[in-house]
Amino acid sequence: MTSHILFVCLGNICRSPAAEGVMRKLSPELQIDSAGTSDWHVGETPYGPMRQAALQRQIDLSGLRARQLTITDFDRFDLILAMDRENLANIESLRPEGSETPVRLFADYAGLAGIRDVPDPYYTRDFDGVLDLIEAAAQGLLADL
Ligand code: 4NP
Repeated sequence: MTSHILFVCLGNICRSPAAEGVMRKLSPELQIDSAGTSDWHVGETPYGPMRQAALQRQIDLSGLRARQLTITDFDRFDLILAMDRENLANIESLRPEGSETPVRLFADYAGLAGIRDVPDPYYTRDFDGVLDLIEAAAQGLLADL
């Protein structure tokens, strides 16, 4: 059974904490966490504009703190979800020998033709658009578990 799910992006301050917050709210009984492939923002709260956009949807990200993905995450989680294809490649490059933990693109669960990556709102500044996509993917994921 898939019960431990890890969301991964680059900085762990925008997309993956938003996915963590959305998924926690949808399914409180699941064990959800998030991490970044980089160590750039370790220890920080999610990015302010993302926290604000999430709060408008009654999703409070203020208790989350960024951390970096580690190889032990492949043992601790049943499913690792990457926010984009670059994250996916970076996650795969850390995979320990013998680990069969599935690593998939989160946006695929939204079932939207041609959309495979969650765009990085740190650059696009479209925090609401990203939350819409994350909410659609989270619903699809929940139906798939
Ligand atoms: P995230 O967004 O990967 O969704 O957390 C980013 C946040 C910060 C940076 C890049 C992406 N940065 O370059 O600092």
